[in-house]
Amino acid sequence: MATEPGAPGPSLSAAAPSGVDGVEARPGVPKPDPVLVVDGLRKTFDGITAVDVDHLEIPRGLITALIGPNGAGKTTLFNLLTGFEQLDAGTWSFDGRRLDGHAAHQIARLGMVRTFQLTKALRKMSVMDNMKLGAIGQRGENFFAALLPFLWSAQEQVIADRALALLERFNLHHMQDQYGGSLSGGQRKLLEMARALMAEPALVMLDEPMAGVNPALVESLLDHVRGLRAQGMSVVFVEHNMDVVMGISDWIVCLAGGRVIAEGTPESIADNEAVIDAYLGTRES
Ligand SMILES: Nc1ncnc2c1ncn2[C@@H]1O[C@H](COP(=O)(O)OP(=O)(O)OP(=O)(O)O)[C@@H](O)[C@H]1O
Ligand SMILES: [Mg+2]
Repeated sequence: MATEPGAPGPSLSAAAPSGVDGVEARPGVPKPDPVLVVDGLRKTFDGITAVDVDHLEIPRGLITALIGPNGAGKTTLFNLLTGFEQLDAGTWSFDGRRLDGHAAHQIARLGMVRTFQLTKALRKMSVMDNMKLGAIGQRGENFFAALLPFLWSAQEQVIADRALALLERFNLHHMQDQYGGSLSGGQRKLLEMARALMAEPALVMLDEPMAGVNPALVESLLDHVRGLRAQGMSVVFVEHNMDVVMGISDWIVCLAGGRVIAEGTPESIADNEAVIDAYLGTRES
């Protein structure tokens, strides 16, 4: 067994085998080795379109930034793909397996986890218990196992060891007995990322992991995101800071009005007319 927390499973390669080299910069473009494929995904709220994605492929083993102005549908897209919101229409496949119709905990157990724009660390629970919840809620959630304490205790040491290793990696181990609520905003973001890794995911979706974080912690968070890629995970993250996006991403997807209006490498997105228009349009309104 791999001992490194979050280490890639046997089905994952450590390096990006095919990447996005030579992939054309246009919305909906196919990738050589997508980890996630979305088709016809639609969601409206009271008649207002929040998400309207015809086709989107997320490359495996790379860092993809999801950008777009406020209200573009980024969080709603995350919510739909991870089972936290009901869709109106559409399908998506993760590692070739259809996930539409699956509940959030099933999706997480299959290896696709997300963090939230507003951190969900439980304030009245210790940091360690927050981590354990990541394993219970996302991985070992099994009604019968919960009723059979001997099964549970066999798992518990493994989970505690794993949690501690992750807390050490995220430099939170010294706070393991403190309440979630006593952490700084940045530490809560770190805790949420660490907790997501309890599920041993293959794809991690981070909704504004850097928002509201003290600049001193941003570099550390970015290093952790790069670390996920180095371990063979695929990462999708939402971010508004373009310096961060341009600096860390292998591929960028831009949403506006729920639609994918542009996709490409950082170089191709930097001067993309549709992207510039989308941002200018919202600034003027
Ligand atoms: N639960 C909801 N009920 C009604 N409307 C919603 C709901 N969630 C999102 N919306 C609407 O859907 C659209 C997309 O919102 P969403 O939060 O996905 O955007 P976003 O790209 O994440 O924006 P931001 O960058 O500000 O986080 C917006 O018009 C928003 O008002
Ligand atoms: Mg959002």
